Amino acid sequence: MCDNLRSMKPAVLVTKRIFPEAIAYLKEHAELDYVESDDGMSAEELAVRIRGKQAVVSQLMNKFTPEVLTTLEGVKVIANVAVGYDNVDVPAATRLGIMVTHTPDVLTDTTADFAFALLMAAARRVVEGHYYVHSGQWTKWRVDLLLGQDIHHRTLGILGMGRIGQAVARRAKGFSMRVIYHDTQRAPEAVEKELGLEPVSAEELLRESDFVSLHVPLMPETRHLIGARELRMMKPTAILVNAARGPVVDEPALAEALEQRVIAGAGLDVYENEPRVHPLLLKLENVVLAPHIASASVDTRRKMSMMAAENAVAAIEGRRPPNLLNPEVWERAAK
Ligand code: DGY
Repeated sequence: MCDNLRSMKPAVLVTKRIFPEAIAYLKEHAELDYVESDDGMSAEELAVRIRGKQAVVSQLMNKFTPEVLTTLEGVKVIANVAVGYDNVDVPAATRLGIMVTHTPDVLTDTTADFAFALLMAAARRVVEGHYYVHSGQWTKWRVDLLLGQDIHHRTLGILGMGRIGQAVARRAKGFSMRVIYHDTQRAPEAVEKELGLEPVSAEELLRESDFVSLHVPLMPETRHLIGARELRMMKPTAILVNAARGPVVDEPALAEALEQRVIAGAGLDVYENEPRVHPLLLKLENVVLAPHIASASVDTRRKMSMMAAENAVAAIEGRRPPNLLNPEVWERAAK
């Protein structure tokens, strides 16, 4: 291709390192400005670097507030490498005519696997066991060594019965668990039937569950959905799992509840101010902590990178991006 045709390709900014396959694909279709680092960029840097670009492939830590969005002149699409999109003010993007896309489905099972791994690790004290053996403290078998909670035949309460909530329920079925759930929208009847789901109120769920797993998106209505009051409603033997978004839980209240054994344990993948974790959580043994890796399998993170790249390329080539969150922008432009 001659140079002046090449320079007519639309330009794309990738704000952070993603999988090489996605970069290769983007290079075929666009002029690429690739920030090949894990550090990300400030809103000020973004405002400078975005100039002249038609798309941005972004990640959770890039916050697209209304102020930041106004600096994205000429940008057609924000292609987030995540299913969650609480880092983008979608209504504000819609008003400004910027499409926003995400990466649903490809991470559903991977994330559900990990939520279940956290549940099991916290219930059966896997991490404590690991440190016990690793540090050479294990000198004899004991009948009451590191006793945990049973998982099978216990009650799992799922807050948020969307794609990931359903995938967690599917796993629970294999453990003969009773699954109760609460959501603002009732799950389809066929799904309730297939998975044996019982809809209950939020309060019933908290009071009856042996395990509470959170699968709601972060929105103003779900911020601090679980705070001191809700934790006090839970059984003292209960375990809380959060692989959704950190701010869904009041982290200081959870740390205190775990320290005072208001609940027995927790398994957390997400935090209120990532990558910072409440200092008390770091000291407690009854919590399993992971660094926001629920979707981090090789295949899934590769697929998420590709999906975001494909969404970006569709938009700059004038096609409707497959995973569009604000179709109003597309429909408006088509009129
Ligand atoms: C998501 O996709 O929203 C995850 O939290 C990041 O993998």
